[in-house]
Amino acid sequence: MDLSIIGSGYVGLVTGACFADVGHNVICVDNDAGKIEALQAGKIPIYEPGLEEVIHRNVSAHRLRFTGSVEEAVDNSQIVFIAVPTPQKPNGDVDLSFIEKVAREIAGVLKSYRVIVDKSTVPVKTGEKVAESIKRYNRHGAKFDVVSNPEFLREGCAISDLMHPDRIVIGAESEHAIDLMKKIYEPFMAPILVTDINSAELIKHAANSFLALKISYINAVSAICEASGADVEKVADGIGMDRRIGRNFLDAGIGYGGSCFPKDISAFITISEQLGVPFNLIKEVQRINVAQRERFLKTIREKLWVLRDKKIAVWGLTFKPDTDDLRSSVAVELVAEMLREGAQISAYDPKGMEKAREVKTMAGTKFTSSALEATDGAEALVIATEWDEFANVDLAMVKERMTTPIVFDGRNMFNPETMRQLGFHYHSIGRASVVPR
Ligand SMILES: NC(=O)c1ccc[n+]([C@@H]2O[C@H](COP(=O)([O-])OP(=O)(O)OC[C@H]3O[C@@H](n4cnc5c(N)ncnc54)[C@H](O)[C@@H]3O)[C@@H](O)[C@H]2O)c1
Repeated sequence: MDLSIIGSGYVGLVTGACFADVGHNVICVDNDAGKIEALQAGKIPIYEPGLEEVIHRNVSAHRLRFTGSVEEAVDNSQIVFIAVPTPQKPNGDVDLSFIEKVAREIAGVLKSYRVIVDKSTVPVKTGEKVAESIKRYNRHGAKFDVVSNPEFLREGCAISDLMHPDRIVIGAESEHAIDLMKKIYEPFMAPILVTDINSAELIKHAANSFLALKISYINAVSAICEASGADVEKVADGIGMDRRIGRNFLDAGIGYGGSCFPKDISAFITISEQLGVPFNLIKEVQRINVAQRERFLKTIREKLWVLRDKKIAVWGLTFKPDTDDLRSSVAVELVAEMLREGAQISAYDPKGMEKAREVKTMAGTKFTSSALEATDGAEALVIATEWDEFANVDLAMVKERMTTPIVFDGRNMFNPETMRQLGFHYHSIGRASVVPR
């Protein structure tokens, strides 16, 4: 089928590449001319494992191309996906101006029937607004259908999530649009759930807030573990082995971040309030998430006393491993806070360094070329993102390089007993701190 995707970021680019890989003809559009130029020159603007190969393979097979022109895309595809940002406004509401702009642009060039699919994460009832907008601005009176098709990919394993989805959600009113959507997704052999548009939109916010709830739940349990001497990992294993609960998303840490959870949770709270049914449970999820980071900082302050002029190494800056994405990363917020308190930060991240250098709140950070180098002369090491690379660093060498071997592990990467034997003072989440004997 002939498809186009407006917005070639983490979602649009990966979705476009995967659609092309199963045989569709795909045009990826972006209004960032630099991004389109780079893509046309074979350069991939984001890091996502496996993406470069899939893009190159499909560009060579002439199934995938890039353009800055919405008109070219709409003219040459039966189905037009929207995958532009839906960021958070300062009041917690969703900024839908990107979606509205694209709807108007599509309307301006829509000459005959197309299916317009919203893949961006949007508040319930956005589909109705998109349809109204296209109708209002379409001079040709062309027919169209609007579909909601939320995306559930995880950065870091986006290709596999797209190629083997747990489910495809199609929110639509028209049988013809549903048939076309089913045809697009046929090669993925995944269960398809057809709903009305409002339900599809709500599924995405409900799914993300439920996952965030699991994270905040175990983080709240971790605080009780620390106060009582229990081990949060054992507790998580014990409850996670219950198939009704499941072990996923029960890893205690310093909280969720990233481009989706914080803004989607905020949006869901605001939407529920606007609809007159405040979702206070999710407000608590958000509160616990912030409190968890503050509790971690409190531990750091308690153990190091004063942060001013302390040399602190930080491992991991991206919001999770296997991505270069730093948006709303807890690691970045931790670094910013420690810098504000006068600490001298040496930081290393396997894929996030280029973007990290541009983050204003981290100005003054010394960026190193390896995890080991970051620990040179450090008085403490803070582990903020659980990259596999860190698990393979020679910890004996780390101890040798550090001035005082104190580790604050925000992601529970290491075994406390091993750390004690290596001679570290080791503080993790929801587990007893250890000191050398
Ligand atoms: N990143 C994720 O893991 C993820 C997962 C599921 C859903 N989502 C949702 O998908 C949407 C997109 O997220 P993302 O992470 O891909 O964002 P992104 O910022 O990485 O990409 C968005 C792209 O849209 C482009 N754009 C903006 N306005 C445009 C316009 N008028 N015309 C053409 N291009 C335009 C931007 O230049 C950018 O390249 C958001 O609603 C997000 O919540 C994201």
